[in-house]
Amino acid sequence: MGGYDQKQGYPDPAADLSVFAAHGLTQTSTIVDLGAGTGQFALPSARQFGQVTAVDVSPVMVKLLEDRAVAAGLTNLDCVQAGFLSYRHVGPPADGVYTRNALHHLPDFWKGLALERIARMMRPGAVLRIHDLIYDFQPSEADQVFERWFAHAVDDPALGYTRANLAEHIRTEYSTFRWLFEPMLVAAGFEIATAEFGGSVYGAYTCVKR
Ligand SMILES: C[S@@+](CC[C@H](N)C(=O)[O-])C[C@H]1O[C@@H](n2cnc3c(N)ncnc32)[C@H](O)[C@@H]1O
Repeated sequence: MGGYDQKQGYPDPAADLSVFAAHGLTQTSTIVDLGAGTGQFALPSARQFGQVTAVDVSPVMVKLLEDRAVAAGLTNLDCVQAGFLSYRHVGPPADGVYTRNALHHLPDFWKGLALERIARMMRPGAVLRIHDLIYDFQPSEADQVFERWFAHAVDDPALGYTRANLAEHIRTEYSTFRWLFEPMLVAAGFEIATAEFGGSVYGAYTCVKR
């Protein structure tokens, strides 16, 4: 899984932890990480917050994350094998939900349902932090934006995403246009507090449950 982590990059979790802290989350807060993967956010989050539930549809990821939680002595990190559409939240409503690079696995209809399910597991005022491949352009701009994106691809697939990988993402996965995604967030019951985009293809949102 070292190779998987390397391909995903090793994002510094500090900025995301600060977003939750800035919205008042503390050592008693509960966080759910959906599509948690190898735990790049769930593990540091469990060191800072009260209770973290890491959810992933892949049994391999869940087992890996369980082993990492035990090795790190983190008794406040639960790992659950489930998907966006099947996870059933138990216990008090979440104070924060995090999801990075996972929502694009769902087509828009299911993404809309997933966002509404996420909202239902959160208390009013709770914070949703999302990172994902989201398209911030008009259909007529697709060729230019993708050519610019491909120009930044790496040659070695061990080091990151190649041009072929990016093309495969476009062809087979479900990244949404920003101008469709934002109304979905609002319809699900969120207020968008911040939205930042990189290269017209990658978005980060902080949303507050109404
Ligand atoms: C690209 S990885 C990102 C992992 C992690 N969030 C990170 O940033 O390193 C996507 C993860 O989403 C999970 N996934 C895919 N479809 C999912 C679904 N429908 N529900 C929940 N997780 C899903 C995959 O198993 C994988 O672990």
